[in-house]
This record gives sequence, C-alpha cells and structure tokens, in this order.
Amino acid sequence: MNIGIVGTDRSDWTCSALAAAAKTFGSKPVVFSLRDVTSSITGSAQLISDSVDLTALDAIVVRDVGAGGLDEVAFRFDVLNQLAEHAPVFNSPDAIQKAANKYVSSVLFRKHGLPVPRTIATHSLEEAKKALSMFGRAVVKPLFGYKGIGIVSVCDDSEGVSMVESMLSEKGMLYIQEFIHNQGRDIRAFVVNGEVAGAMYRIAPQGSWINNLSRGGRSEPCQLTGEQEEMSIEAAECVEADFAGVDLMEDGHIGQGTYVIEVNGTPSGKGIFESCGTDVASLIMRHVLKAVRT
Ligand SMILES: Nc1ncnc2c1ncn2[C@@H]1O[C@H](COP(=O)(O)OP(=O)(O)O)[C@@H](O)[C@H]1O
Ligand SMILES: [Mg+2]
Repeated sequence: MNIGIVGTDRSDWTCSALAAAAKTFGSKPVVFSLRDVTSSITGSAQLISDSVDLTALDAIVVRDVGAGGLDEVAFRFDVLNQLAEHAPVFNSPDAIQKAANKYVSSVLFRKHGLPVPRTIATHSLEEAKKALSMFGRAVVKPLFGYKGIGIVSVCDDSEGVSMVESMLSEKGMLYIQEFIHNQGRDIRAFVVNGEVAGAMYRIAPQGSWINNLSRGGRSEPCQLTGEQEEMSIEAAECVEADFAGVDLMEDGHIGQGTYVIEVNGTPSGKGIFESCGTDVASLIMRHVLKAVRT
C-alpha cells in the first residue's frame, strides 16, 4: 500500500515517525507537502506533487497542512477534500478544520457538555471590556493559533483595557477566554481511535504561563483520572478526529475540576514519545492501515 504523509517538513520528528511506522507495517510512505501540489484543471484533472499522482494513493495521513494566508490554506484544504474522494484522509479535512478553529471547537465542546473556560467572541469593544471585567484576568487567542503563538494575557486594569482596544482595532474581532488559575502546567492527552494512548504534563518555564513545549515547557508523564480520559475522548469525538492531541487544564483551586482548552487535529508525537515512550505515530499508522484494509 502507498500511504501519503502530508507534511511541510520531511525532517519533522512526527513526519519521520509516521513514515517509519508505515514501513514497519509493510507499506510504502509517500511524503509530500501540500505546498508542492499542483492542480491541473486543463483537459483531464490532475493532482500531482513531484510527478507523483496523488490520486493513486491508498490512504493519506496529515501531519501538517502548513501555515499561510487565506488563499493558500483554503486551496490546500480544497486539495485535501479532492484527495479524500480517492482515498481516506486521516484526520479528515473537516476534522482538521474544526479542531484548528478555536471558536468552532469550543462551541462543539460546550454543545457536548464538556467543561470549557468561559469564553466570549465579539466584534464589540463594549462586550470585550465587559468580558474582561467579568473574568478579571483573561487570555486573548488567535482563532487559528498554534504553539502558543500570539496568545496574550490581560488583566482588568487600565493597561489590560488599552491592550484589548488595540488588539480589537488590529484584528477586528477578539476571542477572549477566562484565565484558568492553574498549577503552572497543563495536560496534553493523546487520543487514537477513541482511546487514550497516553498523556503528559507540560510545565511552563520559570516566569511564563504558556505551557507549550515549543515555548520552552518541559514534559512529565501524567496519569489521567477516569474523568479526564473520558473528556479527552469526547473532545476528539466532538471534532470527529481519528487521532488528536487534547489540551486540558486543571484549576489550581482544589475541587474546581478540569477544563478542555483545545483539541489539535495535527498533533506532534515527539513530546509524548520523549517523556513517556508512547509511540503515537505507530498507533496512528496501525489504525489507518486497519481502516483501509477492512
Ligand atoms: N484559559 C486559559 N487559562 C490559562 N492558560 C491558558 C488558557 N488557555 C491557554 N492557556 C495557556 O496557553 C497555552 C496555549 O493555548 P492553546 O489554547 O492550547 O493554544 P495553542 O493552539 O497555541 O496551543 C496552553 O497550553 C496554556 O498553557
Ligand atoms: Mg495548545
């Protein structure tokens, strides 16, 4: 079987691990970047990358779609949707899009009864100020952010209000979430095919409140409670992801519970492998090959 692996960087740990897993299971990995795909609508339609006909692949696993402007990213999702007509794509383009959009995923979490921090999305300065005063401390996030980039913490004081004003005039709308007073850590849980494969704490570096490993956080193995396991599985289900990295945050106040922060439809497998030895790439590839064979 020829398994397409979509990634912008061939040397990326997860991309390499997926390719290695495909080989271990007797398949041929075909790594390509959506940036290199050319679609021809002249005569017979074609989707090629490096002269490879992508419509002949048996399945496709998406490691990352790649950042970019609206036209670029929209085109890449259109290509993924076209490819999905020829072979199953994991995660589906729809799941990746729902997970990537923090507003959409939070609405889905809420709809499925998962605990989400109080959140306001608005174009209005008045509503943004009201949210800040209600939350006391808040985080303002880009809807399509990743790796903790562009997240800002604001307090309900004159500096916070003027930051909200300038962010709103720059972005046009704001996604404002109450700050969860935590223990300097969050949890990244991995779900593959409706089961938790493993979880790790991510501990923010000294002086920071952002726990992403790519922002200097360090990881430690984490044993989820039964409730946290169920929340993680449900969060992945909300966006219909076959595999996902789910971010959870425990409130620092005892007994206040755990919140779902976000779900990632194209997670890195590096951190969980290094901290717990959990090989998410193999689990994903096994699931993909089983789904294709049956
Ligand atoms: N509501 C919140 N309260 C406190 N910290 C938060 C909150 N939301 C996010 N964070 C911190 O910011 C990090 C990045 O936020 P997240 O929503 O996961 O976006 P990204 O897609 O950039 O990873 C989280 O891992 C956590 O450390
Ligand atoms: Mg995150």
